[in-house]
Amino acid sequence: MIKLDFANTTQEIIQEEGLDLRKSFSDYAPKIREIITNLNMNKDKPGSWLQWMNLGYSEETVWYVKEFAAMVEGRFDNILVLGIGGSALGAMALCEALLKPYWNLLDKEKRENLPRIFFLDNIDPDQINALLDILDLRKTLVNVITKSGSTAETMSQFMIIKDRLYELLGDDYRKNVVATTDKQTGILRQLANEEGYKTFVVPDDVGGRFSVFSAVGLVPLALVGIDIDEITRGIKIMDLALKNTDIHNNIAAQSALIHYLMDKEKGKYISVMMPYSSRLKYVSDWYVQLWAESLAKEYDRSGNRINNGPTPIKALGATDQHSQIQLYNEGKNDKVITFIRVDEFDCELNIPNIFEYTGVNYLGGKSINKLLNAEADATAAALCDYRRPNLTIHLPKINEYYLAQLFYMFEMQTAIIGELYNINAFNQPGVEQAKNYAYALMGRLGYEESAQELREKIDRSRKIMEQ
Ligand code: PA5
Repeated sequence: MIKLDFANTTQEIIQEEGLDLRKSFSDYAPKIREIITNLNMNKDKPGSWLQWMNLGYSEETVWYVKEFAAMVEGRFDNILVLGIGGSALGAMALCEALLKPYWNLLDKEKRENLPRIFFLDNIDPDQINALLDILDLRKTLVNVITKSGSTAETMSQFMIIKDRLYELLGDDYRKNVVATTDKQTGILRQLANEEGYKTFVVPDDVGGRFSVFSAVGLVPLALVGIDIDEITRGIKIMDLALKNTDIHNNIAAQSALIHYLMDKEKGKYISVMMPYSSRLKYVSDWYVQLWAESLAKEYDRSGNRINNGPTPIKALGATDQHSQIQLYNEGKNDKVITFIRVDEFDCELNIPNIFEYTGVNYLGGKSINKLLNAEADATAAALCDYRRPNLTIHLPKINEYYLAQLFYMFEMQTAIIGELYNINAFNQPGVEQAKNYAYALMGRLGYEESAQELREKIDRSRKIMEQ
């Protein structure tokens, strides 16, 4: 199992900046028990948005995804995923972590005949155009993913690509499309029915940022040969562990409570996610969305305006030691830093014993692995000297089983801290507002009033600048 080390958040290590966790764990034990019990009790309640807790047990989905992957095996050179936010970040992070580094640059043999994979999660015209120049769309399977079925970024990309596919393949183009969307509603569902696309379902009551273990994430992962049975095994074992209502035995509850108390009692509301592995770089991107969209809310569940805002930041070790660590050590003491440390890398890379009579000879004969983990330990120790709280998650290896544990643990941690804050962690009114304004600006039917309102706002700003 993955492990959490929170010693560096305690008073014993960072004095007055730390927490008295013996006392806090005992004070909050009843509250945590209640939260975990309620989450498990309500997970099947429609409208509670807790269906993500059941995804590890959805054998049917795993079976259909594997069947589809087997059916298209060898037919495509490329997978192109169209999606944004929760519809892209999870699979992107897992592919980056689980595929061999530089996957798309490897030749077919080294990829064991599996396709390359590309994610388009933005609408930068230059980027889209450049990608379309590289890809042979005839040999590309396009997985368009949108739960709502109408997100402008994803649907505009799909419209461009569908048009090109049709030009190349005529009616057969539909064999190159697989859509992941709501089972009944939305424009993409309607199109899929009319055009006859192969489809997968985003289950009800699973929000985008909690959807990585549904077909949203599993389809792209399976298409590039990632072992989704091992993913399921990892989720289940972690789910079992996190059903434990005793905070002393539940790492998601421990980390959630520490972050909550650091924010409420110590003014440390910024959560830095810093894996020490380039392969885990996009885990931080996924975490940032999960934390930000789930926990930043204007109102609590009782209707009080609280503007809750624990702020996530992404960092990468060792790279950001030379960029952000100065801030974390000597800047405002308002952050909690979480390191992810990999115990065993896939390979051991030794530094040759050359340059013997120079100042770098201490490196010779050691491994880069040792250096990276020594830097993680050193950074944590230095943070403690400056009395900065930090936690370390130990990942035994980078593989499907442990990453599934990690992702599920973060999801549960987010759900628990959401309850501690007394907010709804599963909606995102702030995102919807901007989406609606974008629809209005692009002239979508039904958004005329918002468009008028927006034009007035834009005029007001313009006038201020002219003055
Ligand atoms: O987490 C979320 O709910 C969002 O990030 C959505 O995933 C994102 O806005 C994309 O929405 P959709 O899947 O409807 O295209």
